[in-house]
Amino acid sequence: MIRSSIAKKAVVAITGLLLFGFVIGHMVGNLQIFLGRETINNYAEFLHSMPELLWVARIGLLVAVTLHITFTIWVWRENRSSRPQRYVMERTTRASSASRWMLLSGSLVLFFIVYHLLHFTVQWTNPDYKQYYEHHGQPVTLVSFEPNQIGPGQEAADLNAAVEAQTPGDDIASEAARAIQEIPADSVAESERREYRRDVYRMVILGFRDPLIALTYIVAQVLLGWHLSHGASAMFQTLGLTIPKYRRGIFLVGPIAATIIVLGNVSIPAFILLDYWTNFGYFTI
Ligand code: HEM
Repeated sequence: MIRSSIAKKAVVAITGLLLFGFVIGHMVGNLQIFLGRETINNYAEFLHSMPELLWVARIGLLVAVTLHITFTIWVWRENRSSRPQRYVMERTTRASSASRWMLLSGSLVLFFIVYHLLHFTVQWTNPDYKQYYEHHGQPVTLVSFEPNQIGPGQEAADLNAAVEAQTPGDDIASEAARAIQEIPADSVAESERREYRRDVYRMVILGFRDPLIALTYIVAQVLLGWHLSHGASAMFQTLGLTIPKYRRGIFLVGPIAATIIVLGNVSIPAFILLDYWTNFGYFTI
């Protein structure tokens, strides 16, 4: 069954739809950065407060991406070897060049995702992000601790590993460091621990104040938009959702949704960088 070409295309279409849904949800979550530190940090804390669910979602995404790529390559190779004569008609040329662009844009989006995970999630490219915490709404920079050891749900003893404030004379930071050191290892109340949480707000803003990083994200969103727009049309065709009467409307869904995603995602690095360059002061870290 899965050997049939249509079944393979259906796997690409359904996994593509799932990933499309993730991108929309992620964009809506990220746009909360415009509502301020409290809102976006609440959201990030909420997502990380259910580690089991988070891992189910992560594994689901990984499976969807892997199937999407594997089956795309499978279908593409099959089409290539079964095509009797290449590029005899203009229509064929157009179709194959579109699918080549899908492969290219998809590969570039994959590169972006790997970079994005190393940037914001693993923080491998910018390890200093690991020190950004928030204490009662105030930014705190902590040093000399094992990464990711502060926050709800971790071992009480780990809190004692978090010491020293970075900036000498910075009252908020030294207060946070002292408070953490003074908490008895076995009696840390959840409420006390929750006073220190990751400052995703500062991480994203400092990230996009770097023009090269902002530009990388902007270009990646345009490529992603192109991929989603064309992918959606291909998906409707594969799933047979092309009722003649609504054909035009159906084929507009992809480009419209993709445009919204591009505008929403691009607005984040673009506004953060503009705000910084113009000293407008909307995003304060
Ligand atoms: C300008 C656009 C984007 C911004 C500002 C952004 C921001 C972020 C941030 C801040 C995180 C880390 C959240 C945390 O640690 O709590 C994250 C994680 C992630 N992002 Fe994005 N993102 C953007 C676009 C995208 C796109 C286009 C994709 C996929 C196509 C994507 C996929 C992911 C994934 C898979 C994670 C990891 C989630 C996890 O496992 O924790 N992001 N993003």
